[in-house]
Amino acid sequence: MLWISAAVFLVVAGLLVASIRRGARDQGADLDRSDARWGEPFIVLSGVVVPAIILIGVYLFSLGEMNALREAGSNPAMTIEISARDWWWEARYANGAVTANEIHIPTGVPVQLDLTTRDVIHSFWVPRLQVKTDNIPGRHTFMWLQADRPGRYRGFCAEFCGLQHTNMNFWVIAQTPVEFEVWLESQSAAAGDPPDPDALEGQSIFLTSSCAGCHTIRGTTADGIAGPDLTHLAGRETLAGVLPNTRKALERFIRDPQSFKPGLAMPPAELTHTELQAVLDFLEQLE
Ligand code: CUA
Repeated sequence: MLWISAAVFLVVAGLLVASIRRGARDQGADLDRSDARWGEPFIVLSGVVVPAIILIGVYLFSLGEMNALREAGSNPAMTIEISARDWWWEARYANGAVTANEIHIPTGVPVQLDLTTRDVIHSFWVPRLQVKTDNIPGRHTFMWLQADRPGRYRGFCAEFCGLQHTNMNFWVIAQTPVEFEVWLESQSAAAGDPPDPDALEGQSIFLTSSCAGCHTIRGTTADGIAGPDLTHLAGRETLAGVLPNTRKALERFIRDPQSFKPGLAMPPAELTHTELQAVLDFLEQLE
């Protein structure tokens, strides 16, 4: 459409320039225009017939494009369910993989996002990839993302949703299709058995404490849904969208989550130092 418009513009501008020149040349001359036989047909042709052909052509072309868009929308290569919560993001993939605050996508293909919320209105926004789209209670809203280059794209919640709205950040991580497939496959797996006695001890503390009431670890009895799925926690780069995923940061976060995200639903852990170290041993091997 841009090229067609440009061609029309050039023709019209050319005619305008020609008529201005002719007007300047003929200025003052006593002209008899009674022999301008082509005047009327020219107006009808260039003012009605040619525009009609061009506009009808563009209309038919855009009908075809609209159909292609609708078909792509009804049969997406990939859909990720994004559920917003106070104050984090859950991403669910068709093969059972679940992650939080880090949404992996393959490069070069349009990915459909199915946006919902568990509580209030949030708004999903990745400035470098797409416009904002609201997550609205009781509804599904759909949007598309496409990243042509691998990389990390910052995401935000763009609708004020409470105390930690500002910290409701996430990353979209675009990977080449091959790398993405490997990641997706690994994320769908359940957690394996803890490899050493410390981690095993940590698992049993985790499963019998309040942790398991809110968090799911697939492959264990922990199946809470209030907080993020931790099955592959150690494979993530960030914690709660605000901290780097290191043992030190994880320890401080579990001990006092409220100091990092005041208002968060997670209470401080009531664990002894030794118990907490065992839980960390367990969580750190969940790759
Ligand atoms: Cu969620 Cu602002």
